[in-house]
Amino acid sequence: MAGRILEVIAMGHPVLQEVSLAVKNPLDPDVQALIENMEATVDHLNCSGLAAPQVGASLRLVIFRVPKTTENPAYQLTPEYDPEGVPWTVMINPEISPLSREMTAGWEPCLSLPGLMGEVPRYHSIQYTYLNRHGQTESRTAHGFHARVVQHECDHLDGILFPQRMTDMSTFGFKEEILKRMEAC
Ligand code: NI
Repeated sequence: MAGRILEVIAMGHPVLQEVSLAVKNPLDPDVQALIENMEATVDHLNCSGLAAPQVGASLRLVIFRVPKTTENPAYQLTPEYDPEGVPWTVMINPEISPLSREMTAGWEPCLSLPGLMGEVPRYHSIQYTYLNRHGQTESRTAHGFHARVVQHECDHLDGILFPQRMTDMSTFGFKEEILKRMEAC
């Protein structure tokens, strides 16, 4: 891939608490370069999503996917896991509307909280609209894990990390410990 691998910023850095700015021109060479670098970074990290603030750019830009199958046990443990998957998607200035008030709890990790996970309630069904990398408007409906990933990544654009969405902090902890206990059940 053409892009450069970027350093991912961890919780505690102020950029992760900021409300990011809207991207004015998706075709701006700096924005296109950021997209390429974020793509190289997610490819290198083999993860599901990355928001621009996590690489120090306070802009409303996200890249995510929903893997068809994954080695990451956290996804397997999520009851609403979506086996179909969603290909890598670049979203600029995304907007989310919940389709109902129904919320489901599911496990979430985050690159900015290395080694940690927790159970987070999210809207089960959403509609989301965004500009793609060519500046065209796209809209999708999402349920379950797909909806969860989109909500998690878009929260980064408003300076919100997953622990701030948790309602049961007793589920917050180190992946290694939590997964060990789950396997024992
Ligand atoms: Ni995250």
